[in-house]
Amino acid sequence: MAKPLFDAVWPPEVVAKLPWAGIVFAHAELRILVQAEPEGALCHVGIYRREVTWNGRKMRAGGIGGVLTREDFRRRGYASIALDAAIRTLRDEGSADFAMLFCEPHNVPFYAGRGWKPFDGEIYCQQPEGRVRFTAIPPYLYSLKRAPLKGVIDLCGLPW
Ligand SMILES: CC(C)(COP(=O)(O)OP(=O)(O)OC[C@H]1O[C@@H](n2cnc3c(N)ncnc32)[C@H](O)[C@@H]1OP(=O)(O)O)[C@@H](O)C(=O)NCCC(=O)NCCS
Repeated sequence: MAKPLFDAVWPPEVVAKLPWAGIVFAHAELRILVQAEPEGALCHVGIYRREVTWNGRKMRAGGIGGVLTREDFRRRGYASIALDAAIRTLRDEGSADFAMLFCEPHNVPFYAGRGWKPFDGEIYCQQPEGRVRFTAIPPYLYSLKRAPLKGVIDLCGLPW
């Protein structure tokens, strides 16, 4: 259901020019979709629950990824609604200390205005070649119980 939306917003020729081209990402565990008839999926937010480490200590991250709205349906509040639903889901199930996403600089105002804070530290993750430092897209955190703002976070798996 989400694939046509991904293909429309991020076709291969567009992805090839993005900073995260070539990176292998995880698949979402839950998806928030805003749909219409007959258009189908208009907006998507993926949720990735993950036990990560922060400075070597286990913490629970609620990953948020694949935030996207069809170009002709933007600025109607759909991404805000889907993001709120994702945060609400993580909060209600009590499954995460913080929500975490990776965001290109041009989208920072969107998240900064919604309570997200930059994580000023190092991120590590898994890729097919092994454990690597993840620097392609800057990380942002949203506190649900507690959120570190510095240090080293290991995603303990593929990024999202
Ligand atoms: C970033 C993105 C997901 C935002 O989607 P969206 O559905 O347009 O988001 P919203 O409508 O909720 O909010 C966008 C802006 O429109 C404003 N807006 C919301 N409803 C509105 C309305 N009815 N009329 C006018 N503006 C409105 C919002 O206030 C927001 O502005 P703000 O950030 O200054 O507050 C979308 O631009 C996109 O898909 N971009 C390409 C993919 C991408 O870069 N994704 C982000 C990956 S981190």
